[in-house]
Amino acid sequence: MTFHIITFGCQMNVADSEWLANILKARGLKQVATAAEADIILLNTCSVREKPELKVRSALGRIQQETGGRLNVLVGVAGCVAQQLGTTLFSYSPQVRLVAGTDQIAAIPDAIKLLVQEPSRTLCLTGFTEGYHERPAAQGETSPGAFVNIMQGCDNFCTYCIVPFTRGRQKSRSAKAILAECEAALKNGAREITLLGQNVNAYGKDKSGDGTSFFSLLKQVSALDPSMRLRYVTPHPKDMTEEDIEAFALLPNLCPRLHLPMQAGSDKVLKRMNRRYDSAGFLKLVSGLRRARPDLALSTDLIVGFPGETEEDFLQTLSMTEQCGFMSSYSFCYSDRPGTRASTYLDKIAPEIQLDRLQRLQALQDRLTASWLNARAGQTTEVLIEQQSPRQNEAGYVSWQGRDPYGALIHLSLPADAGNATGREMPVKITSAFKHSLHAELL
Ligand code: SAH
Ligand code: SF4
Ligand code: F3S
Repeated sequence: MTFHIITFGCQMNVADSEWLANILKARGLKQVATAAEADIILLNTCSVREKPELKVRSALGRIQQETGGRLNVLVGVAGCVAQQLGTTLFSYSPQVRLVAGTDQIAAIPDAIKLLVQEPSRTLCLTGFTEGYHERPAAQGETSPGAFVNIMQGCDNFCTYCIVPFTRGRQKSRSAKAILAECEAALKNGAREITLLGQNVNAYGKDKSGDGTSFFSLLKQVSALDPSMRLRYVTPHPKDMTEEDIEAFALLPNLCPRLHLPMQAGSDKVLKRMNRRYDSAGFLKLVSGLRRARPDLALSTDLIVGFPGETEEDFLQTLSMTEQCGFMSSYSFCYSDRPGTRASTYLDKIAPEIQLDRLQRLQALQDRLTASWLNARAGQTTEVLIEQQSPRQNEAGYVSWQGRDPYGALIHLSLPADAGNATGREMPVKITSAFKHSLHAELL
């Protein structure tokens, strides 16, 4: 049988989909590139922003079109929208016979087996597990970067956010299992490890923690291989300890890049978001980080038009963004998510004001990004090649792309006879900046 997976959402979903693909392949199923060729189609969904139900509905419509609506095609909806909507999803398309929430990814392979044997059945699995459930190891093809889950869920309840509802309570994975997965990935050829979670530096601070702190975990992973690259995503500013900051000075393989969501610059808005830090605290954290690692590249997430946000509040977001000098940011207009506290706030901001603020914020970010990228021209760095680049090849050359330790996207041309460069690390000199990436040549 053949299967096809469509993934929306964050890196956790990407990691879940990758695990699923590997385990299904290990069970003898064949992964195919389009829905049209597949007997089984899995849609891994996200509910964090903007009309996720509609997005799922239209994806299911496309699947119906591409498969001619055949009812012997088994469609499963997994992830955060599945967790949120449960059995309602069966009414979206007659092809949907499986709904699997965020803690039920591991149950999907057996569920598929059952549903293939019993074509008239449907299954809706949306229970949350007690503690972090280990899944069977599923080694895929060698890829230069490995993403390793260190926890599930989130306990922060930022007032705008649906994640604590869709992913459930925070559950830390045992350090032993994390280290074993990292070791296996390195043995399989990975050159970079990214530790994953919704609030990674709260690792261990829940019932299923085994006494290991985030810093201690980071040190242990770092020690597995001094020559690999280590990253993590996403930390919460309120949970960054002195040790987490010092780690950037102490651990040579911890990359000088941190994605540190600020969300807003106004203390009033931060308070109403329940972020539990203020602008002064955030700036102090940033300067501590830069003291530990002067060349640290920072990126962030920002929300504009949060309920009650005045022009004054918004100007503080602009000012903080400028002061922190983020090399990139993801910015979004606030949108109501069902069940969240902010969705009950009455002082919503008009969409046209939200959009105007978003554009002004993005114009500022474009300027900061350009200045960060332009300052890199002439520097030497090391690139880890990830894949061929969509850029035009010059005669006799192939265009490749990869990332440097700062996480900047770098394009470079290599002689066509150099073979497959994926996973290779090479010293390069940056020659020029594009809008969102850099161009380099081999040193
Ligand atoms: N755990 C991570 C990621 C959360 S979701 C963190 O704490 O940063 C990713 C981003 O989506 C958030 O950082 C936030 O900027 C944005 N986001 C979440 N809910 C939102 C909402 N209701 N409206 C607009 N943006 C939202
Ligand atoms: Fe959502 Fe806040 Fe948890 Fe991030 S820390 S997942 S924004 S509740
Ligand atoms: Fe989306 Fe769920 Fe991730 S809501 S951002 S897929 S945790």
